[in-house]
Amino acid sequence: MENNPIASFFDKLAEIIDNKELIKLVVSNQKNKSSGLHSIIVTIAQLKRGYRLNFVYRHATRDITKNFEFAEGMKLLKSALATDFNDANLFSNHENVMLVTTPSGKVKISIHEPTLQPVTEFHHDRIKSRLINTIGNIYLRELGITNANWEVRREMSDKYKQINRYIELMEPEIRELTLPTDYHVVDMGSGQGYLTFALYDFLSNSLGKTAIMTGVEFREDLVKSCNLIAEKSKFDQLNFISGAIENVVLNNIDILIALHACDTATDDAIYRGIRSNASLIVCAPCCHKQIRKELNVTNQLNNIVKYGILKERLAELITDTIRAMILEAYGYKTKVFEFISTEHTPKNVMIVGRKTGTGNPSKEKIFSEIKAIREIFGIEKHYLEEMLRRDA
Ligand SMILES: C[S@@+](CC[C@H](N)C(=O)[O-])C[C@H]1O[C@@H](n2cnc3c(N)ncnc32)[C@H](O)[C@@H]1O
Repeated sequence: MENNPIASFFDKLAEIIDNKELIKLVVSNQKNKSSGLHSIIVTIAQLKRGYRLNFVYRHATRDITKNFEFAEGMKLLKSALATDFNDANLFSNHENVMLVTTPSGKVKISIHEPTLQPVTEFHHDRIKSRLINTIGNIYLRELGITNANWEVRREMSDKYKQINRYIELMEPEIRELTLPTDYHVVDMGSGQGYLTFALYDFLSNSLGKTAIMTGVEFREDLVKSCNLIAEKSKFDQLNFISGAIENVVLNNIDILIALHACDTATDDAIYRGIRSNASLIVCAPCCHKQIRKELNVTNQLNNIVKYGILKERLAELITDTIRAMILEAYGYKTKVFEFISTEHTPKNVMIVGRKTGTGNPSKEKIFSEIKAIREIFGIEKHYLEEMLRRDA
């Protein structure tokens, strides 16, 4: 084995990949210390078109992720070890294989007991290629989603799925947009920042369209902790500010996001998006208290509101229907769909509006249709409609 350690190492790697026992491979220790590329981390990903080697190229401030077929990936790894890096640490289910270059330039291979939790079953979820990569992603670790080995902690796997689902939904929407270079994304009611960080990460490191991003949050403690994590992650253009959605001072807003902002806070956010002419407005509404309190059904539909849970669902349906109609009235092509299955959270509707023009010639017609809906259910006012009407 020692005769040609590099060839032996690659034989081992091929065998481990073949047996689907690769946990990860880390190629590190740059030959040229001033190189911007610090390491390469390789895992196996299962894409729709089959298994691939997933490469995370770790740079000082960002990661770039690419998938390669095995043959191509092996070729790239051989070239990386020949020209860019001195060492490779291979972690598999049954052994760790270390390839190191000594200070005198001699290359050595050694085999050790495994140290990482084995991939016992190569099942779909374990290897599913997610849009948000875990390895080397500091914010995921700081938020407690991953452990020290960059693995998703079992109790956080739903959160990790939600993050990826969110990015999956956002990707095509954002690709459709024509945005200025210094575009501003505002996340209203950013909370602990899970989805804010993930979006910033995806925009910068996967789409290559780094945004100026602001998370707006009431709670100072969350603002403080999120800013610390942004700093540790070197997310230089991501900033969290404390304030209220309805009146925090912001410049232009190109993309407005409000996920699970309580009750009328969602309306305040949509209002600000419309008033700023945001290109994209995305919200996942939370509770619908305002309309629930307003419901005063005196016709045959009153049987629905006799039952608390149905009254709640009715309030949700009416509130979000009117929100979607209002977005349409202001020239937003609007979709309403399930964000993440109810198995994970009951707050699972997402409303996405993409600005298509300067306005909608049917605006007044839409508002009269909204009025008709309100009349059926004895609703005097819808908070968002009221705010926009007041301006007019
Ligand atoms: C349920 S959490 C959602 C957090 C995050 N957007 C998510 O979906 O994971 C709602 C957050 O919005 C904040 N919030 C609610 N109303 C707000 C308002 N009017 N202004 C600023 N923050 C608000 C709350 O403090 C809370 O942290």
